[in-house]
Amino acid sequence: MRKNIVAGNWKMNKNLQEGVALAAELKEKVSNPNCDVIIGTPFIHLATVAELLKDSPIAVAAENCADHTSGAYTGEVSAEMVASTGATYCIIGHSERRTYYGETYEILREKVQLALANNLRPIFCIGEVKEEREANRQNEVVKAQLEGSVFNLSAEEFGKLVIAYEPVWAIGTGLTATPEQAQEIHAYIRSLIAEKYGNEVADNTSILYGGSCNAKNAVGLFANPDIDGGLIGGASLKADDFCAIISAF
Ligand code: PGA
Repeated sequence: MRKNIVAGNWKMNKNLQEGVALAAELKEKVSNPNCDVIIGTPFIHLATVAELLKDSPIAVAAENCADHTSGAYTGEVSAEMVASTGATYCIIGHSERRTYYGETYEILREKVQLALANNLRPIFCIGEVKEEREANRQNEVVKAQLEGSVFNLSAEEFGKLVIAYEPVWAIGTGLTATPEQAQEIHAYIRSLIAEKYGNEVADNTSILYGGSCNAKNAVGLFANPDIDGGLIGGASLKADDFCAIISAF
């Protein structure tokens, strides 16, 4: 059966010393979680934090990886490089990457393939913008995002993915999807996975909610049958806030 997961996404926050201090505090405070716990950090932290957390229940994710294997791509970090740090997950397709860095369905398809080829589990993000929600187009948007970048995978490959549904209008805005809105679209996403890969793969896929998730609203969100945890931005930057969300399970 699928796992419950609470994953942090630090985004472009925390210098090296601050990040290591946060990871050390989490290591101390997260002892017997009732769910899997992952922290997504900037590239500069990965090696140090993965080493620090190696004997803890906390896994480490990169927030991105390159869409090429290796070579003359100044400033890029490959999936193989990420894996060599000890990180085991990679966030791919976050709406900020899609919007600010022009990441297309095709680019994301490459990134997912390269992550999988290097034994990284992609945390693949999907979700609609405000205008699309207002036009009630959220279902067609997430369907196109899945079809565009991950439904080319084999069932075995798809089974390594974690899906994060993050309505863009809820990210960093303090607006959250209601538990009903989130449950409805999570169930829809699971039905798409079932249609493509069958019920067993769909039942085993963890689908996380992201977008202004905090300790207060996590309990109501996580109580739903198709919401298997959260991808947490702002509230992952303080150990106590993040631990309170983990405690929602
Ligand atoms: P937020 O970010 O929790 O700050 O809204 C979530 C995300 O972007 O993953």
